[in-house]
Amino acid sequence: MARLRVGVLVSGKGRGTNLQALIDARERGELGADLVLVVSTSAEAGALERARKHSLEALFVDPKQFATAEELDLALAQTMEQRQVGLICLAGYMRMLTATLIRRFPNRIMNIHPALLPAFGGKGMYGHHVHEAVIASGAKYTGVTVHFADEEYDHGPIALQKVVEVLPDDDADSLAARVLREEHKLYARAVHLFAEGRLQVEDRRVRILPSAP
Ligand code: GAR
Repeated sequence: MARLRVGVLVSGKGRGTNLQALIDARERGELGADLVLVVSTSAEAGALERARKHSLEALFVDPKQFATAEELDLALAQTMEQRQVGLICLAGYMRMLTATLIRRFPNRIMNIHPALLPAFGGKGMYGHHVHEAVIASGAKYTGVTVHFADEEYDHGPIALQKVVEVLPDDDADSLAARVLREEHKLYARAVHLFAEGRLQVEDRRVRILPSAP
């Protein structure tokens, strides 16, 4: 079977630490897949720098060149298809995906979210805002979710989750740092499971199949 080819999508000024975690897992031989390109909708994304450093194709796609979100997504989908990408990983991609992209990659777009969905997700819930909301809520636990993207924000079938305890003296920064460490492990694991064909989506549930004997 051909090795899975993964494309990574980032936006904003993305630091790219989740991308880095995937690169590191790949270099340790733990990803079970090849990273083929990183696309950013911001020229300044740290992720592009990280990609180039590791000799990955790094592309800036300027959203201003497109009249609509659908046109941008069509260009993104075609870019991924041209490189035979079998899985798109969103790694700090804060733009809403349209049906144009999602329908061309059904259950083949993964997102990582820094909380336990469906809590603390949805519009405006990204990056630091998530951890601030968790602290303000008084929740004792938060965590990480890796899910398949569908046409609603932070909504698609959940592949993996990891719980992180909120400590009494945590602020949004300390919590974000502990959650981020778990993100890095969980994303690489999710990609590996996907590459092995072990994530089976059944409606909203994702069954994790046992490894082949
Ligand atoms: C990560 O914490 C990721 O979970 C979050 O953005 C950060 C990107 O960091 N994504 C979302 O909030 C999506 N709703 P990184 O650039 O260091 O990987």
